Amino acid sequence: MPSALKNASLLLLARTLVRAQAALGDPGARLFGLDPTRDPYPDYERVRRRGTVVRSRMGVYLTADHALCRRLLRDPDYGVLPASTLAIADSTAEAGGRRLVNPVDESFLVRNPPDHTRLRRLVAPWFTPRGLRAQQETVERVVEAYLDEVGPTFDLVGDFAARVPIQVIADLLGVPGADHVAFARWGSAIVNALDGVRDMKEMRALHDALREFEAFLDDLIAHRRRHPGDDVVSALAIRDDLSRDDLIATTELLLVAGFETTVNLIGNAVLAVLGDPEVRDRLVADPAHAEAVIEETLRLDPPVQYTVRVPFRPVVLEGVDIPRGVPIVLVLAGANRDPAVFEDPHRFRPGRPDGHEHLAFSSGIHYCLGAGLARMEGAAALRGLFGRFPGLRAAGRVRRRPSRVIRGAARFPVTTGVEKVHPIVETIS
Ligand code: HEM
Repeated sequence: MPSALKNASLLLLARTLVRAQAALGDPGARLFGLDPTRDPYPDYERVRRRGTVVRSRMGVYLTADHALCRRLLRDPDYGVLPASTLAIADSTAEAGGRRLVNPVDESFLVRNPPDHTRLRRLVAPWFTPRGLRAQQETVERVVEAYLDEVGPTFDLVGDFAARVPIQVIADLLGVPGADHVAFARWGSAIVNALDGVRDMKEMRALHDALREFEAFLDDLIAHRRRHPGDDVVSALAIRDDLSRDDLIATTELLLVAGFETTVNLIGNAVLAVLGDPEVRDRLVADPAHAEAVIEETLRLDPPVQYTVRVPFRPVVLEGVDIPRGVPIVLVLAGANRDPAVFEDPHRFRPGRPDGHEHLAFSSGIHYCLGAGLARMEGAAALRGLFGRFPGLRAAGRVRRRPSRVIRGAARFPVTTGVEKVHPIVETIS
């Protein structure tokens, strides 16, 4: 059988089996096999109610227990999944005979020490409090510039939330303005593949995006070697202790990790605020409340719903035998609603005293490097939006992203409640 046809048949068979297991109530199959746009939180509750660690017939274990998730994220006896086990691993295989760098499998997000330590250290300086202060002004400026452009009714995601982080990361990496649109397209293509490629068409689209993105980065790296700036790519390009593939994977990781996550943080926060008049009034009256709103959004409806760890040796976890290397799905979004830690966990309550305990940015050595930047972007976006449009309200049905790892809106029509006032332009002849 030709390999494309064989791959397509295998994908179809796998999907059918997962759906059958989901129908039988298997917790892993429900998580990975059902409609990704549905509300997943009842399933997370079900996982926690079934036990601290739950076995799935999908060959994985799951936990939505806060204490256990936090413990495994910090335990050096557990690590991230090695390359080739993740869903988009096939992208490295073919693509015109040339091996492509797999931005997820090969970046330090999915590497264990000592490689993880070495690579993370190279980019960490851009994310220190000092590095962040340097970016505050850019973030505020970008928010205001995009708000200037929106009409009386606009798509909160496409016209605003998606534009802010892409501009911020592009600046950080030194990507020229003319390439921002393509840059955003590559980022989305790769993030969409995190859920697994569903058919050969999606696989080809992913290969095309990766091939274009790599060619672009090779050019950018060569350019920055000749004309260095104060951006991440310039700093990494002149190092002789960094391979070309590691440089590409690190750059791609920053785009993938920092783009759609932040888009969905902004979208999920606005969704929560518009659904809660009390929070909304407080935010309009006190822009400083934006930080608490962002923190509570991260807890209640986090953009990254789960991650995976594997034990480096066989373990017995809460009485359950888990062989070496078998994935344990840590449902971060479920842990964030664990009643053992959070009082009245399903309620949106910005400023709650236990709010900072959430695991939306993970924990341990892989704790999100961009957490401070994401918080800053999210709070600036809310301050800008509700400062300028206190009457902002939903203007149609929210369309959810068809993804499981990343949760948020794909389209979110809103209206500002004010007519667009065009400035009077005088022409001088
Ligand atoms: C709301 C926005 C964001 C969320 C919810 C988020 C969430 C996460 C999570 C859960 C992880 C760890 C995954 C694991 O432990 O397996 C992570 C890692 C990471 N994030 Fe974020 N992230 C966000 C924004 C950003 C931004 C803006 C950047 C940078 C521009 C960024 C860069 C990274 C990097 C580089 C890692 C890998 C860290 C490591 O492996 O050591 N993230 N993020």
